Amino acid sequence: MRKPMMAGNWKMNMTVAEALALTLQIDQLVGEATAVEQLLCPPFLCLHPLKEAAAAMPFSLGAQNCHWQDSGAFTGEISPPMLRGLVDYVIIGHSERRQLFGETDKSVNKKTHAALTHQLTPIVCVGESLDQNERGETAAVITAQVSAALDGLSAGQVQSLVIAYEPIWAIGTGRAATAQTAGEICGLVRAVLRQLHGNAVADLTRVLYGGSANPDNISAIMEQPDIDGALIGGASLQARSYADMVKITAEIYSP
Ligand code: PGA
Repeated sequence: MRKPMMAGNWKMNMTVAEALALTLQIDQLVGEATAVEQLLCPPFLCLHPLKEAAAAMPFSLGAQNCHWQDSGAFTGEISPPMLRGLVDYVIIGHSERRQLFGETDKSVNKKTHAALTHQLTPIVCVGESLDQNERGETAAVITAQVSAALDGLSAGQVQSLVIAYEPIWAIGTGRAATAQTAGEICGLVRAVLRQLHGNAVADLTRVLYGGSANPDNISAIMEQPDIDGALIGGASLQARSYADMVKITAEIYSP
């Protein structure tokens, strides 16, 4: 049984004060503990204050990026050992990192290895561009990205991580993939895992959908058998919409 996850990617939003306020609001709105893992990925600066303030709250914490080296002359970067003990997860290879900051399948692979070495759970992002989608290349692009990101990892490492399918054309556009398409491509991700590492690994690894997920479409998305959660940008910045998505998912997964 894969635990469902609602992962809020706050991107470059929220001061420390705003992050604390938002977290408190979410906690109040969600109320009693649910079976859904609530993951908050605020900017680096908010991680320590949130870790302290949210110790008694049911949140997991994640970073939005990390470097692959432990330390060194890399101005402005944050390394896995700095995050160890502070966060549970780290988002790796988000399409904004790939498109705006020159990240490649190779750097994504190095970061994934580095995160796992330091007991951080990577959330590896893959997704095709609009052009690739329109040319019918989605399956080939996703297969190549997943294979490259996981290159050299053991079966045990792969089943411990999370993969997020985020079509680039759906991110921040209000134009989500249909639940059916999202489900199919998450199924394709799982098929790649099956081919690389066998049934047990494919059945244990969590696969998320991301791209304009919101309270209106989350139910249909979460009904898809191969989707284990969502990576949520815009809708995670509003306490009400994020809390609603947690509650709707909890409802779907309640026995
Ligand atoms: P969005 O962002 O929900 O605002 O589309 C998703 C993401 O970038 O992870």
